[in-house]
Amino acid sequence: MNATITAIGGFVPSYVLSNEMISKMVDTTDEWIQKRTGIEERRLATSENLSTSDLAGAAIQNLLKTYEIDPLEIDGLVLATATPDHLLTPTASKVCELSGFTNAFGFDLNGACSGFLYALEMATTMIESGRYKKVVVVGADTMSSIVDYEDRNTCILFGDGAGAVLLEKTDDEFGVMKSILRTDGSGTSALYVPAGGSKVPAGMQSILHREHFIKQEGAFVFKKAVESMSSVSQDALATNDLSVEDIDWVVPHQANLRIIKAVSEHLNIGIEKVKVNIHKYGNTTSATIPLCLWDFKNDFKEGQNILITTFGAGFSWGATCIKWGVMRALKAVQYSANGELLKHDLMYQ
Ligand code: COA
Repeated sequence: MNATITAIGGFVPSYVLSNEMISKMVDTTDEWIQKRTGIEERRLATSENLSTSDLAGAAIQNLLKTYEIDPLEIDGLVLATATPDHLLTPTASKVCELSGFTNAFGFDLNGACSGFLYALEMATTMIESGRYKKVVVVGADTMSSIVDYEDRNTCILFGDGAGAVLLEKTDDEFGVMKSILRTDGSGTSALYVPAGGSKVPAGMQSILHREHFIKQEGAFVFKKAVESMSSVSQDALATNDLSVEDIDWVVPHQANLRIIKAVSEHLNIGIEKVKVNIHKYGNTTSATIPLCLWDFKNDFKEGQNILITTFGAGFSWGATCIKWGVMRALKAVQYSANGELLKHDLMYQ
């Protein structure tokens, strides 16, 4: 029995923060940001008062509406996020409520930028075990809630968004193949939010020292990301008996266009096969990979092999391969992430 992706949804807030706008907040330029990161703009949730549960809930609504899926069919929800609504309760409980998943359990999983891939692996093994049939995996992050907009090293990089997939069991030879996931502690102070957790609880000093915002050693993280994503991708190919020639598409974590290009060069896979949307959204942490799957879903054809690879805080990293399967039929009426009517059944004739 395999687990295959049968539906995809996504959501990004409508508020756009352009490089030009950031250059009025910190000492930087549009040209520097584009050249060093490939990012042109990112979406922000906080200006619309949206939190992670809202983003995740909207991505799932988009999925349910687009494919006309009854929420009562869903057995489980795995929410990958590094920016929960609250430390307690789990954000997944609110998302289950917003999504109408009354026959399901749900839990949060924090794997930083690797969270979606970890969650996909958890859901895949749940389905392969035969105990669950339909599991929604959503990656959602409100990075603007932990970004310091006075720090030019980090505020240029991150954005907000959410992407969701439905995993279902299939007896066909499609679906998520073997994954390789890794975690170590070598990066615990290279990319982190120092305060607000159990180690440094919130207090006057932590606020004064701006310790509730992301701190990052950019160049070190960059180097580790390229090395780790490249080597774990090679391992994932080997463990699935695939060669680079067998790969039709690569969907990498979107942290920096230069990282993506370096990984593509290391793997010797042409950049034309690599899906990139970082210019529109920046790094949305747990949401980059599902948002990429959502943006490019029409390019993926039955039987094609997709390589997914990621890297994040911790450090955490991993890769998997997916043989793309049969998607659920689209509902005749389709909606955009903002609920606008995109396609009517008459448009199909
Ligand atoms: N605008 C202008 N100059 C900037 C800048 C900005 N937004 N941010 C940093 N600089 C400056 C630095 O101060 C430094 O100046 P100096 O040489 O006078 O000291 C110079 O640019 C080079 O800094 P460096 O950090 O070496 O730049 P970089 O090419 O490595 O790019 C990052 C910085 C953050 C874009 C890059 O390191 C990166 O993307 N790292 C990985 C981040 C990541 O992927 N994080 C998430 C992992 S999931």
